[in-house]
Amino acid sequence: MCTKYYEMYDGNNSIGEISWSGNEIRIVQVNRQYRGKGYGGLLLKHAEEDIKKKYNCVHLLAYPFDHSISQSELLKFYSKNGYKPFSFFMRWRYWIRYNRLVKYF
Ligand SMILES: CC(C)(COP(=O)(O)OP(=O)(O)OC[C@H]1O[C@@H](n2cnc3c(N)ncnc32)[C@H](O)[C@@H]1OP(=O)(O)O)[C@@H](O)C(=O)NCCC(=O)NCCS
Repeated sequence: MCTKYYEMYDGNNSIGEISWSGNEIRIVQVNRQYRGKGYGGLLLKHAEEDIKKKYNCVHLLAYPFDHSISQSELLKFYSKNGYKPFSFFMRWRYWIRYNRLVKYF
């Protein structure tokens, strides 16, 4: 299945990006200077509108890429955008919790 990609710009500056494959969102990231302004939510909406055409739900694995956002802040972000916990697993050795979230349309 092809991965789709969407990037949002402010003039020549990249605001952030999202990619998805089928009904799974792979990467969502907003560049630091644009965070907290609702762009993350807009990126999710863009992917969801496309996913909705074929599927009745969207899912993703929530895990912060870097230390700029905590797990709980990330879960708050997804919860505000309608995502609910579906399952989780712990990564062996580091005991990092990976949460799989789902949103039904
Ligand atoms: C997660 C991320 C995409 C959010 O993007 P954003 O544009 O800042 O998100 P929004 O402005 O749409 O956020 C809306 C809500 O999310 C929550 N939130 C987002 N960032 C937060 C932070 N740093 N601290 C606390 N809450 C946060 C808040 O509830 C916020 O609502 P509020 O403004 O009413 O408090 C961005 O922080 C990011 O790029 N993080 C690094 C990459 C990453 O780890 N991606 C996730 C991979 S699964």
